[in-house]
Amino acid sequence: MKSIIVSMFVAAGLMVAGSAMAGDFNTGPCKACHAVGKDVVGPDWKTVATAYGDAKTLAGVFKSGFKVEDRKVAASNAKWKGQAATMTTMFNSNIKGHEDDAAAALFAAVAAGKI
Ligand code: HEC
Repeated sequence: MKSIIVSMFVAAGLMVAGSAMAGDFNTGPCKACHAVGKDVVGPDWKTVATAYGDAKTLAGVFKSGFKVEDRKVAASNAKWKGQAATMTTMFNSNIKGHEDDAAAALFAAVAAGKI
């Protein structure tokens, strides 16, 4: 009996640790335009993760102001470049001030296969 209770606590602890890995950043609003595995209004986050390579690099571009010429996806794709202003609005309202968490959350979503 005691070991069952202990393992329930361990399982609950793992669940908390699992969700904490994505930081406190809420990717809910991103879902309106992004998915993992397909383009929606914005590019597939798998494409984004591949373009940046790691969360640190993406966080760096966020921190330097997310200028259109620094954006790896928009810089190499005219279609996305033409829609950069939409993403700038999202950056200003949701990502600014949470650069590390936002970048980590994007990579965590790609690893999980869904936002
Ligand atoms: C209203 C639609 C919309 C929402 C909501 C949105 N995005 Fe985007 N996103 C876009 C579009 C369009 C692009 C393509 C333009 C661009 O790359 O700047 C894009 C591109 C991106 C890129 C790639 C930038 C590049 O070009 O290298 C990242 C990273 C990104 N979004 C992260 C996020 C995150 C994180 C959220 C949630 C906080 C989010 N987006 C919410 C529309 C949206």
